[in-house]
Amino acid sequence: MIKMAPSLLSADFANLADAVAMMEAAGAEYLHLDIMDGHFVPNLTIGAPVVAALRKRTGLVLDCHLMVDNPDSLIPAFVAAGADIITVHAEACPHLHRTLAAIREHGKRAGVALNPATPPQVLEYVLELADLVLVMSVNPGFGGQRFIPSALWKIRYLRGQMDKLGLVADLQVDGGIGTDTAALVVEAGADVLVAGSAIFGAPDPVEAVGNLRRAAGQRVSG
Ligand code: DX5
Ligand code: ZN
Repeated sequence: MIKMAPSLLSADFANLADAVAMMEAAGAEYLHLDIMDGHFVPNLTIGAPVVAALRKRTGLVLDCHLMVDNPDSLIPAFVAAGADIITVHAEACPHLHRTLAAIREHGKRAGVALNPATPPQVLEYVLELADLVLVMSVNPGFGGQRFIPSALWKIRYLRGQMDKLGLVADLQVDGGIGTDTAALVVEAGADVLVAGSAIFGAPDPVEAVGNLRRAAGQRVSG
């Protein structure tokens, strides 16, 4: 089954509760929250207090994508805020094995993300510690960028490795996902689609989630 993870980055930050309610109505599985620190990426967004506020509003899986330097120092705050999935960037973690293990020890699902320039082989010795692998198909920092096609090769490679090892982790893709690219990434082996501008930039975000599912080749009920 393909899961949809709408990214609130392209929602109206003055009306996040409305955006969450729309995504619940749309039947989204995850709520993708982009945490940026102005150092690891050239943009600054939200932190754990906003995640805690959203936690009070929704039972959706809170999928926190940490685009920050030294994520280890922030993990306890996101655990306390009620995050369900905490994804760190491999490029920001000199002790990635320890970081992923620490997230799991907190009882949370551990995710690891790769920038477009990072080869998937860096995950060889930690794949078993990940509940989610995130392939970035744009350089992180901003919504609304164009899909980088080499992500398809990376998704295919990781799908092969995960299947070979019998791992059931999510294989998520983030960046430039729309009705034009959804089928490509699913065919390559992705099973969680993050989309920001394709959903919140659409006139009807609820309908946009359905359109994406259909484009990904999934039947939409209702
Ligand atoms: C970018 C973020 C994405 C962003 C994707 O750094 O990680 O989650 O919201 O935006 P779109 O779907 O517009 O490419
Ligand atoms: Zn993201």
